[in-house]
Amino acid sequence: MCGIVGIIGGGPVAGQIVEALKRLEYRGYDSAGIATLEDGRLERRRAQGKLRNLAERLEKEPLAGHIGIGHTRWATHGRPTENNAHPHASDKLAVVHNGIIENFRELREELRGKGHVFATETDTEVVAHLVTEEMRQGKGPQDAVAAALPRLRGAFALAFVFDGYPDLLIGARQGAPLAVGHGEGEMYVGSDALALAPFTSEITYLDDGDWVVLTRDGAVFHDANGSIVKRTRLRSQASAFLVDKGNHRHFMAKEIHEQPEVVGRTLAHYLDMSAGAVRLPFELPFDPAKLSRITITACGTAYYAGLVAKYWFERFARLPVEIDVASEFRYRDAPMPEGGLMIVVSQSGETADTLASLRYAKENGQHTLSVVNVPTSTIARECDVVAPTLAGPEIGVASTKAFTCQLSVLACLAIAFGHARGALSREAEAKLVSDLIAVPGLLAEAIKSTAATEKLAHTLSKARDVLYLGRGVSYPLALEGALKLKEISYIHAEGYAAGELKHGPIALIDEAMPVIVIAPSDPVLEKTVSNMQEVSARGGRIILVSDNNAMHEAAVNVEAHLVMPDMAPDFAPIVYAAPIQLIAYYTAVVMGKDVDQPRNLAKSVTVE
Ligand code: G6P
Repeated sequence: MCGIVGIIGGGPVAGQIVEALKRLEYRGYDSAGIATLEDGRLERRRAQGKLRNLAERLEKEPLAGHIGIGHTRWATHGRPTENNAHPHASDKLAVVHNGIIENFRELREELRGKGHVFATETDTEVVAHLVTEEMRQGKGPQDAVAAALPRLRGAFALAFVFDGYPDLLIGARQGAPLAVGHGEGEMYVGSDALALAPFTSEITYLDDGDWVVLTRDGAVFHDANGSIVKRTRLRSQASAFLVDKGNHRHFMAKEIHEQPEVVGRTLAHYLDMSAGAVRLPFELPFDPAKLSRITITACGTAYYAGLVAKYWFERFARLPVEIDVASEFRYRDAPMPEGGLMIVVSQSGETADTLASLRYAKENGQHTLSVVNVPTSTIARECDVVAPTLAGPEIGVASTKAFTCQLSVLACLAIAFGHARGALSREAEAKLVSDLIAVPGLLAEAIKSTAATEKLAHTLSKARDVLYLGRGVSYPLALEGALKLKEISYIHAEGYAAGELKHGPIALIDEAMPVIVIAPSDPVLEKTVSNMQEVSARGGRIILVSDNNAMHEAAVNVEAHLVMPDMAPDFAPIVYAAPIQLIAYYTAVVMGKDVDQPRNLAKSVTVE
């Protein structure tokens, strides 16, 4: 949440900062700002709303400084106004911040007592005043930051520039990511390597608790105790091109259409296609045959991928699976069995609650494995083994291709564990692998349901509420469908296990509420058909997402049928994800919503 960037350049840096912020806008986009030093003096420009508002402001009132910091915000403390936008400043410094300062109230009181006057509703402003106070006591910028950091509680990343110091930028990291970029006579700091990719591919990640002093000559890293430490310099793989929309109107559309390719690429990384077997591209530091239990935890869409995987691990590997959303799991004080494995699933690899759950599992003696899309992320670096998804950068805030790639990796892991535990015969494994190999082609076919979905979107856009139903592996997909629709169209939607219909939601059925039923031809189809009949008998509007056979079996009147290709049912969620995403996408487009950057959301959630 919130993107931060800082540059010590060889010429004016405001343009570069805006370019970097564009690549960080996925982290928040309700306001933005820049501070640079002109003739040694701090100058700020800030604007409410999207980054383009700041860019327009800068055209009218340019900043010429050769050193600066920038920020794109996802509001936590204080409304997204220009006044609350970062950088926050005093007469001595300006600071940008990602994360939350949990003890900001007590610090603010203390600083007010010392005569500091606060101008914003943010937690960040206390950081500006705290460091300023240290400087007023006579400390230089570096000592002042070193003295202030231990007083801050919470998870955050910070970048500072100082009035009168045109060759000094200080960054700090505690629980939120921060990367340093090394250039030729220029230095950079940013929330991720992607933001810095146009300028440099030489990257050093700060460890938790580190702070770094940047000058044009380079970077000096300090650990939480203030000792100077060495941190490894890596070559970042992040693409220097600003990921573009291709021929699509939105990133989300592009990412939906990319799925056959990226799912294929991900599967190819895990499968030995000619042998019909799973070949994990890494050594497992544990024996799956000896595992007592798997615990899966994640947030949002990644959690629903985990929920599908629960069915797979139980069925293919005969392993009990416990699953919970990370924000609940981390505070539940859950007992963890000896010989257990924690799997965390995360596109960004930075989600605060997921990271905290991973750390809890490690403290409780679990093996840890992460399924992540960003291999340099904190979660990837902290777990025992990383199972990468090869989805490429996902820009649309609503997750699409990351979800289907997560499912692909989890399916491969479940098969590999089934093999290792002797729960799958060689033939059963080969059959599952050949079913998986078919998935990218089937996904491409499923995406062709576009025309019917566009038509459907016109009726859905008039609905106030929408119900999604599914059973077995289609149940998590019902939850994901409802999440997608509410995220980007703001229509209230709920996902339910079809069998739970009669325990409450059936009371909602009337001629106004569309019921989207996800029902591939699988062993529980008959049961789902009964539920559809219950809806139909009450005059409900059914939209069926299924193959022609299931449509025939259902023998009920449907308002629309999104025709899916015939396929082996186990991996239907990967293929059926496409129409579910397209329903949400087209509905939001018809309604004129901001599909890629929906209100109130952010792509990377580094606060709890
Ligand atoms: C945010 C995003 C969701 C995502 C969730 C978890 O809420 O908007 O799309 O599913 O975070 O993110 P992660 O990066 O951990 O997968």
